[in-house]
Amino acid sequence: MNANTPLTGLLPTHAAGVSHAHESAVAQVAGAVHYIDDLPEVRGTLHAAPILSNVAHGKLLGVDSSAALAMPGVVSVVLSEDIPGDPMLAAFAGDEPVFAMDTVQFVGQVVGVVVAHTAMQARHAARKVRLNIEALPAVLTVQQALDAKSFVLPPVTVKRGDASAALAAAPHTLHGTLEVGGQEHFYLEGQIAYAMPLEQNQWWIYSSTQHPGEVQHWVSHALGIDNHAVRVECRRMGGGFGGKETQAGHLAVWAAVAAVKTKRAVKLRMDRDDDFMVTGKRHPFAYEYTAGFDDSGRLTALQLQMAANCGFSADLSGPVADRAIFHSDNAYYLQDVDITSYRCKTNTQSHTAFRGFGGPQGVILIETIMGDIARALKLDPLDVRLRNLYSDEAIAGTDQKRDTTHYQMKVEDNILQPLLSKLELSAHYRRRVAAISTWNASSPVLKRGIAITPVKFGISFTATLFNQAGALVHVYTDGSVQVNHGGTEMGQGLHTKVAQIVADELGIPFVRVLCTASDTSKVPNASATAASAGTDLNGRAAQFAARHVRDNLAAFVCGLDSCGAGAIKFKGGQVFSPVATRSFDEVVKLAYANRIQLWSDGFYRTPKIHYDKTTLTGRPFYYFAYGAACTEVVIDTLTGESKVLKVDILHDVGRSINPAIDVGQIEGGFVQGMGWLTTEQLVWNDKGYLSTHAPSTYKIPTAGDVPEHFKVDLWPEPNREDNVFGSKAVGEPPFMLAISVYEALRDAVAQARGDGTAVRLTAPATAENVLRALQSGA
Ligand code: MTE
Ligand code: MOS
Repeated sequence: MNANTPLTGLLPTHAAGVSHAHESAVAQVAGAVHYIDDLPEVRGTLHAAPILSNVAHGKLLGVDSSAALAMPGVVSVVLSEDIPGDPMLAAFAGDEPVFAMDTVQFVGQVVGVVVAHTAMQARHAARKVRLNIEALPAVLTVQQALDAKSFVLPPVTVKRGDASAALAAAPHTLHGTLEVGGQEHFYLEGQIAYAMPLEQNQWWIYSSTQHPGEVQHWVSHALGIDNHAVRVECRRMGGGFGGKETQAGHLAVWAAVAAVKTKRAVKLRMDRDDDFMVTGKRHPFAYEYTAGFDDSGRLTALQLQMAANCGFSADLSGPVADRAIFHSDNAYYLQDVDITSYRCKTNTQSHTAFRGFGGPQGVILIETIMGDIARALKLDPLDVRLRNLYSDEAIAGTDQKRDTTHYQMKVEDNILQPLLSKLELSAHYRRRVAAISTWNASSPVLKRGIAITPVKFGISFTATLFNQAGALVHVYTDGSVQVNHGGTEMGQGLHTKVAQIVADELGIPFVRVLCTASDTSKVPNASATAASAGTDLNGRAAQFAARHVRDNLAAFVCGLDSCGAGAIKFKGGQVFSPVATRSFDEVVKLAYANRIQLWSDGFYRTPKIHYDKTTLTGRPFYYFAYGAACTEVVIDTLTGESKVLKVDILHDVGRSINPAIDVGQIEGGFVQGMGWLTTEQLVWNDKGYLSTHAPSTYKIPTAGDVPEHFKVDLWPEPNREDNVFGSKAVGEPPFMLAISVYEALRDAVAQARGDGTAVRLTAPATAENVLRALQSGA
């Protein structure tokens, strides 16, 4: 089989709704695709390596490059003063320098780059640059930041009703704190940029980025030139997971500034350890909450303070912390609620987007509360969850229903109740709860636990303006088709899905459509590929572009056959009119000969969405994606080790464009979430140095951690909103299904302790944290 052979073999009549293999899967496993580091280098290419601050906070008094410059192969040391444009990065908050100037703000902050003939020469020399830093007091933890009121952005409060009065009136209350760790993206392809000078101060930048448009903007800002002089291209990333939404831009700027100074093409490929030290991660969160509830387990009041560790600059922390607020209800109606979100500034890496974008940090807290309420009342946790779901139930004494979120959006497409009931049955939840408690009674050391948790995830960028996309569809004279859209491919299958949609719109086989590299010179001003909305936005834009071409062809055929435009059908590579059937290729050839336009653009903007940025109220999301997971775990009460045994998932992707890719996203998202909550622990020492900066000390899940029983089913209903093909976004929502692992672990701990007291389990639930949870009485 060669790289172009679709795994599906026989070509079906429809392209969308079919599990075509990922457009580059075969070539990727054969090592036949081009990541940026695989591109042939232009003559004279130099390599850069970053010079890192070794102090968490301090005055940068001087940089001594002499030893580095004397190292073999070294060409130049590039610092802030070498930046031709603004030495501040064009990040939206304007609070980050390109290279540290008079202060350093975390261990790992980039002070400059060393440029040499090889990457290894540059890396060795970067270690020889001596920084003269006068240390200042550093803020290293969320608690220190809260105490010092050290924030990157002001706190935000969202309220409904009167939470303190409702708490006072509540039959039961519980109060608690929780800490949840961050997460390294661990994309397989590390951050990389390759900057090439063209003629007349024009630039071509290869960047492994989710947002070529922002890279273009940042590079032109740093170089002091217009956007039109910078072209950014990305064929694919070897994973992004949010880590290349903004932070790919830094490398591109550093490489470009080095290229300006040396007048050569410069490549900057970060070593894995440096990548860990330099780039931001998922935001660690700390919470304090008081919840009120009644005898039936229904939540009646919630006061919540969430503190996000944002690191030294704002980056995307504002929208990430906002999304945590938006998802702090998860699937549940919060009646009287008061949430305050703090965006803490610490002297660490600037934390950034990571799959779920703050959603997971919102969801985990309310799921914790559900589990706590159940244990406090000796109810089944699933029953407590079901009791609290959004529903059409009227609220006594009012004309309102339990169907509106704390940010005033009505949940119109709610499928939570039937979805949970279906999973409860298919996973045999009740039977297994009983079986597990019997098993535990006769197992003194190993203890099992089980949990079902749902997810409801809002789809759309919370920054409303990003919900727009463009695409170009080019039909060539042989009938083959190229699509270019503003989205980027990071392994999630966006190009495959977009090609499927375009193929169906033109009624031609999938293999006739090719998506080309993302390129700022093709579709301008494209949004980041993020918020799971890649297909919703770019797929629709591409569909519209293809439709324009099809309409041109239909009108042309009508002219030939003297019939109405509605009579022309495109299907199976054929064009049918009442008079004749012709192949698509033949129609294209004829149309070209008759000077018909065979290419078009398409543009889409998401309808219905709006919200007030100051109060965070409105309809920020076009629709919700839903899902639920049932997870069974076992813990070893002597060592604290744990294992995920069985996972059953029922997830809603609407009408699936590509079931195999969607199931892959669900499995991958779940396992990545499992890593966040179990083994992936980031440890900063008391000097602010990240001690877990390599796979030797930072443990992502491996094939051996994937549960033996791992069943994923898709919810059989199209999106109720008018979305492309009736599909729903899938990239991020399944990540939060892994919260069922955390809740199952807490169930196992509770069963092991058997004393009915609350379970305090810090995430990630490493062996140490499980042992602590087993030992600490509430
Ligand atoms: N899947 C793979 N294989 N690699 C990735 O980097 N990123 C995730 C998700 N799935 C990612 C992935 C994140 S954070 C997002 S927002 C979406 O994909 C982005 O792509 P989409 O909008 O096309 O789903
Ligand atoms: Mo995904 S965190 O929105 O890049």
